[in-house]
Formats: sequence, C-alpha cells, structure tokens
Amino acid sequence: MNSEVASLRAALRESPAVVALTGAGVSAESGIPTFRGAGGLWRTFRPEQLATPEAFARDPRLVWEWYDWRRGIIQRAAPNPGHRALADIERRKGDGFTLVTQNVDGLHDRAGNRRPVKLHGDIWQTRCIRCGTVTLNREVPLVLLPPRCPCGGLLRPGVVWFGESLPPLEWQRAVEASRQADLFMLIGTSAVVYPAAGLAEMAHEAGARIAVINPERTPLCGLAEWTLEGAAGEILPNLISP
Ligand code: OAD
Repeated sequence: MNSEVASLRAALRESPAVVALTGAGVSAESGIPTFRGAGGLWRTFRPEQLATPEAFARDPRLVWEWYDWRRGIIQRAAPNPGHRALADIERRKGDGFTLVTQNVDGLHDRAGNRRPVKLHGDIWQTRCIRCGTVTLNREVPLVLLPPRCPCGGLLRPGVVWFGESLPPLEWQRAVEASRQADLFMLIGTSAVVYPAAGLAEMAHEAGARIAVINPERTPLCGLAEWTLEGAAGEILPNLISP
C-alpha cells in the first residue's frame, strides 16, 4: 500500500466527523455510465432534452423512455467493492460518518448504507405533478409510458433536474455535516455540478482536510491534502483498517 493511502487510512480512522460525497464514478465499476467521462451520458444525450422541467413538459414520453432505459441498466447492476467499503466505513464510524451522494441509482442503499443523503433524488421514486404524491416504483420496464398517478396526474421521475432546487432537508443535512467535518472525501465526482461540489469548499473553509479519489484530476484537487488517482472500487477497500 502506498504511503498516501496509508496516511488517508489513518486520518479516516482518527477523524471524529467524516463526510464522503460520491458521484457517478463510484457506480462506474458496477457498469452504470457516468455523465461526463469517456462513454458518459452527456456525451451522447443532451441534458436540456432529457433532464429539465421544460423537456418533461414538452415530451414526457421521451424523458420517461430515457429514464426507463437507465432504470433497466441500474436494475441489472450490483454494488461494487467501493460501495461496500463505504457501507463498512459507516458501520465502523456510526454517527461520525455521513454519506452524501449525487447518485440516483440506490446502490449505496443496496450496499448497506442506512440513510445516504440523496442530493439529486432517487430514480426508483416517482412524483405526481398534480397531487405531489411520492411513490416507490421498481417496475422495469414500465408498462405505461409515461406512467400516471391514481389521481390521473402525470408521474415524473423523483430526481432533481437542471434548473431545480435540491431537496431542502437533504441539503440542510449535507451542509450541517460538511461544516462539522474533520475529513471530507470527494469520491468519483467531477466536482463541477453545484451546489453539491460547493460542500467540499464549505467543509474546507470550516477547517476540514480534503481527499479526492478519482482516476482523473478535478477542479477541487487544489484543496486536497490527498489526491488518490485510481478507481474507487480499488482504493476504498484499502482505507479500511483490518
Ligand atoms: P460525472 O460523470 O460528471 O463525473 C464522474 C467522475 O467519476 C469523473 O470525474 C471520472 O473521472 C470519475 N470516475 C470514473 N470512473 C471512476 C472510478 N472507477 N472510480 C472513481 N472515479 C471514477 O458525474 P458526477 O460528478 O456524479 O446530475 O455528476 C454530477 C451530476 O451531474 C450528476 O448527479 C447528474 C449530472 O448531470 C443531475 O442529473 C442533476
């Protein structure tokens, strides 16, 4: 094990308050495409046609077809060693660990994290645009496209789209944990989407030490005391003390 990994492992063990902010990169080794890297979704698809309230108002069926396709990929995927290591860290550190994720795939829950803070929602939830009811929906593929609520209203995916606010309670939990963190780890995120990426800056300003785990450099690497270049599924298991 190299000395940087050993040093971060010691910091993780010794820090009373740790936050991990994850992005699409943690699920890449599970076979789920990222957004911006090679093969990333935003290389092929245009967000303004698929991931905005205006796109949904214009063509709900097209938007749902895309989400239905992604739900199929996610359903066939399984948590990888990176997800499992994060669940293990939570079991060991208890309330001293907060997992904040931008991912909507639910793989952190499936790996055993009890209550990840989901900043961008959950692809397995639907929300009625008429009555607001939120429902868990695991049907793959969806029989009715676009799906409808029993009230007759259109259902939308329970995710955050471009131009929308983050869920307020989740955001508040993430901000509080970030301000109190001694150690803040950015894992598998390009760190370009705000406000999520701003949590690392908030934590740094409040005194946290920053670690980045990513095969590529990110704009927030300049804040980092540790920059571990590699795959989350390979690095994270090494951060757990035996
Ligand atoms: P991105 O696709 O922007 O970035 C994925 C990051 O993961 C890149 O920096 C890759 O270098 C890195 N990566 C790839 N494979 C990895 C691996 N095996 N281990 C570790 N890192 C790896 O995804 P996000 O940063 O999550 O928002 O994107 C943020 C938000 O932008 C998403 O939540 C989504 C998107 O538009 C919404 O849909 C609202």
